[in-house]
Amino acid sequence: MRMLEDELFPSTPGKVKIERAHAINRQFHRCFASTSTMFLWALFLIALTASYLSFQSFVDTSSKYLSASWGGLHWEKQIRVSAEVRRAHGISVLVTGAAGFVGSHVSIALHKRGDGVVGLDNFNSYYDPSLKKARKSLLASHGIFVVEGDINDGRLLSKLFDVVPFTHVMHLAAQAGVRYAIENPASYVHSNIAGLVTLLEACKAADPQPAVVWASSSSVYGLNEKVPFSESDRTDRPASLYAATKKSGEEITHTYNHIYGLSITGLRFFTVYGPWGRPDMAYFSFTRNILQGKPITIYRGKDRVDLARDFTYIDDIVKGCLGSLDTAEKSTGSGGKKRRPAQYRIYNLGNTSPVTVPTLVSILERYLKVKAKRNVVEMPGNGDVPFTHANISLARAELGYKPTTNLETGLKKFVKWYLHYYGYRPRGSKNL
Ligand SMILES: NC(=O)c1ccc[n+]([C@@H]2O[C@H](COP(=O)([O-])OP(=O)(O)OC[C@H]3O[C@@H](n4cnc5c(N)ncnc54)[C@H](O)[C@@H]3O)[C@@H](O)[C@H]2O)c1
Ligand SMILES: *[C@@H]1O[C@H](CO)[C@@H](O)[C@H](O)[C@H]1NC(C)=O
Repeated sequence: MRMLEDELFPSTPGKVKIERAHAINRQFHRCFASTSTMFLWALFLIALTASYLSFQSFVDTSSKYLSASWGGLHWEKQIRVSAEVRRAHGISVLVTGAAGFVGSHVSIALHKRGDGVVGLDNFNSYYDPSLKKARKSLLASHGIFVVEGDINDGRLLSKLFDVVPFTHVMHLAAQAGVRYAIENPASYVHSNIAGLVTLLEACKAADPQPAVVWASSSSVYGLNEKVPFSESDRTDRPASLYAATKKSGEEITHTYNHIYGLSITGLRFFTVYGPWGRPDMAYFSFTRNILQGKPITIYRGKDRVDLARDFTYIDDIVKGCLGSLDTAEKSTGSGGKKRRPAQYRIYNLGNTSPVTVPTLVSILERYLKVKAKRNVVEMPGNGDVPFTHANISLARAELGYKPTTNLETGLKKFVKWYLHYYGYRPRGSKNL
């Protein structure tokens, strides 16, 4: 473009002979007029192409993420039935990530005590979606409906709030996993940042506004070395993009609490495990590999120190989630303004007894009755932290949170589920 312009408008008019100045001047004008027209056309075409492309990519992203078909009378009826409260002073909860590990357990626990539950999940393929579908079937067998859709779909969210005046949102949908952020950083921004904002916008606009309880993570403690990790410790040194998006979530939810009066409770989960768990987590993939006779990779920290995690059993986490929902105060806003300050809380939900990874493997070997092929390697700097250990005194005091399952007991239940689910027993069915 630049070159074309320079050729057409030589910047050295002094070279033009005087006697031909008139003719050239006229030509020059014609030339200028046609060039500027051409220029405008070119600009127009570029703008057109650009807007077409961005529209295309919008259609692409929306069809990729927001493709789920929803709506219609039957669909609305399923939602209403699922959201029905069947006890005095019960609550109605929108559970995002309901086809996920924690979400499915929380949904069933709420439903069992008579609360209304509607699930929302996009069934993405970060890990085997058939496990998510199986959890959905399990929920359906309890009478819980899971909407297939993305938390980035603002229209879907406002429709859900139109159909049901949810009292609470249990927000568990997220891109989880620490190492996967190196492969697919955009998925973390999509679900943990953009999706969170879309969800909070819907909550802000809802009338009445729900109270929001959501999952942050112990990973926000990042490179901290002081143990146990307490809520008041610094959280400004994340070691992974996952951790950074969870930390951002704590700040984004604070903003919505401050401006719009949304009641917010953030829960920092510490390595949750148990039946129907996540295949990308170590205890799960170790089990799979040990049973298949494949080697397992065990990371070791600096100076040959074993990694340790404050493994927390799913039933304990569920109790912490329910305790949070039950103690959450109402949101205080409407019409984009708050009437008075709303509750903002953050709690650790851990087990307070870290166990090293080699010990975890030994327990698994015992229950699986198979010796593991251990491949011990130095931990690469890909987002893992050497240890986690929760101080849970705040959750204990304010939520009545009291974990009761140690790793031995919890893994026994996990292994039992795993063998059953994956058909390691003769005539084992795929449902528990
Ligand atoms: N399991 C743990 O050890 C642990 C630890 C700390 C924090 N957390 C957090 O707890 C929450 C639940 O974790 P989990 O272990 O059950 O993980 P999970 O992956 O099993 O569940 C998350 C669910 O959310 C869904 N989802 C993801 N992005 C979505 C989107 N944009 N729209 C709709 N649905 C979407 C997924 O399909 C999945 O079913 C997550 O926020 C996670 O970051 C978990
Ligand atoms: C645990 O957290 C509480 C605050 O919730 C704090 O008072 C206490 O000192 C912490 N305990 C330890 C051992 O850090």
